[in-house]
Amino acid sequence: MNSSSQRLLGRHALLTGAAGGIGLAVAEAYAAEGARCTVVDLSQAPSAGVRALMEAAPEAVHYLAADITEQTQIDAMVQAAQARFGPIDVLFNNAAVFDLAPLLDSDEAMYQRLFDVNVKGMFFTMQAVLRQMVAHERRGRVVNLASQAGRRGEALVSHYCASKAAVISYTQSAALAMAPHGIRVNAISPGVIDTPMWGQVDALFARYEGLQPGEKKAAVGKAVPLGYMGAPQDIAGAAVFLASDEASYITAQTLNVDGGNVMS
Ligand SMILES: NC(=O)c1ccc[n+]([C@@H]2O[C@H](COP(=O)([O-])OP(=O)(O)OC[C@H]3O[C@@H](n4cnc5c(N)ncnc54)[C@H](O)[C@@H]3O)[C@@H](O)[C@H]2O)c1
Repeated sequence: MNSSSQRLLGRHALLTGAAGGIGLAVAEAYAAEGARCTVVDLSQAPSAGVRALMEAAPEAVHYLAADITEQTQIDAMVQAAQARFGPIDVLFNNAAVFDLAPLLDSDEAMYQRLFDVNVKGMFFTMQAVLRQMVAHERRGRVVNLASQAGRRGEALVSHYCASKAAVISYTQSAALAMAPHGIRVNAISPGVIDTPMWGQVDALFARYEGLQPGEKKAAVGKAVPLGYMGAPQDIAGAAVFLASDEASYITAQTLNVDGGNVMS
């Protein structure tokens, strides 16, 4: 778990939705940079990837199960994280769900599910961690996970796009509210990244656009200016940077990490 830079040495990072995909890749990178990591996801038992990380660094990584749509579970998560590794310095606010349907069929249940996790859960997790950072006078850093979908509309993806636009907006408001405390709040806006989520995304596009399995995934990868779909590790550099002192004058920003898909 050593790297030469150790840019997060002594920091405590809490990462939600980190059983696999982007969250796990960032937990690996944070641990390699010297952070102690509280890794959180829904399942009671840690995933194989999280277990491997815990085995490699038992003193630096622990796992908590929490559903971020429940305030009591958010509060318990923050309390348990602090009990294990002390006050939280870095929040990687990553847990989210995806779904899509034609606009006229995008029902209330889908709206509720996506907004419960991607907006309500994201906001109240951030609020609970920020309260703790303020109380402990930690000059903390928050990295929220937005999406290129939050930069635009998509005919089939209305609820998810809107939920990620909300992440960008909450990031800006929280950054302004926390600036007097020296706490920085930024977001990362990934493009198309090959994670477990994309298995579901590909299947849904196949259903509604009459494509073969794998066709959408191949097409979106080819359409990226850099020419390929990102890997979860492609998000890790930006995630470490925003959590580190190198980004000490950066707040309220949403950084596109997408191979050139979005220019803003
Ligand atoms: N993969 C992409 O192409 C892509 C693109 C843009 C944005 N993103 C965003 O990046 C982040 C990570 O995405 P990913 O692709 O690694 O997804 P993923 O599905 O692999 O990981 C998301 C994790 O969140 C967890 N989760 C879901 N609901 C939860 C809840 N209520 N409480 C706690 N955990 C919960 C899931 O169990 C899962 O492990 C998400 O915010 C996603 O919206 C991903």
